Amino acid sequence: MHKPLIIGNWKMHKVVAEAVEFARQLAASVTPVADRDVAIAPPFTALHALSAVLKDTVIALCAQDVHWEEEGAFTGEVSARMLLDAGCRYVLIGHSERRRWFSESNEDVNRKAKAALKAGLLPVVCVGETLDEREADQTFSVIRRQLKEGLNNIAANDIRRTIVAYEPVWAIGTGKTAIPEQAEEIHDFIRQFIARIHGTDIAAEISILYGGSVNPDNAAYLMAQKDIGGLLVGGASLDPGSLRKIIHY
Ligand code: PGA
Repeated sequence: MHKPLIIGNWKMHKVVAEAVEFARQLAASVTPVADRDVAIAPPFTALHALSAVLKDTVIALCAQDVHWEEEGAFTGEVSARMLLDAGCRYVLIGHSERRRWFSESNEDVNRKAKAALKAGLLPVVCVGETLDEREADQTFSVIRRQLKEGLNNIAANDIRRTIVAYEPVWAIGTGKTAIPEQAEEIHDFIRQFIARIHGTDIAAEISILYGGSVNPDNAAYLMAQKDIGGLLVGGASLDPGSLRKIIHY
């Protein structure tokens, strides 16, 4: 089993100077945490500067998106190799905001995950249902489809290096966290889905993160669930004090 993984997703926040100041403060306060993995996902523009600040610390870098091609005429896009070169270890793929505002499909997610794995990045593949889907009793079918298509044809060895993040869309940025048992039910479902394709040993190895209004008060309850292997934190990761508390849940 992996160590618990906590990723702070800054979304479209912080210019370079703000990011560097934050990283210095956080690095100073979490250095002794050897029993968990920590990463921050700043905007692309801050990656390079942060890789210098975070070098020799326990905090890794995560990008918020990646393109599936290695290079070429794709204005505005960034490749997996570029992200590695900028110091990233992880990359978020298929965040619900990408799906909603930029029309990302499960097929895009699949191509991006494969490109990330090929380049040596660890993909964090995000899945989750909207409120309408939950109310229409479609939660399991939506997640099953996101997993089936998003992880399609990824070999067992690569699945081992893949992280899944369950983020119910209705819980993102709303202050409405899934109750831990509700999250656990979906985490267990995700693990069983992977077990059916790749076997229970590989499924047991996968880190499955929870995301959606995680804060210093609910982090420990969520992490107490059997299948929750880490947290993807949005709003509460923008302040070093609150992210530090979540890391030390
Ligand atoms: P939130 O965002 O913690 O602000 O709800 C989580 C995410 O979108 O990754």
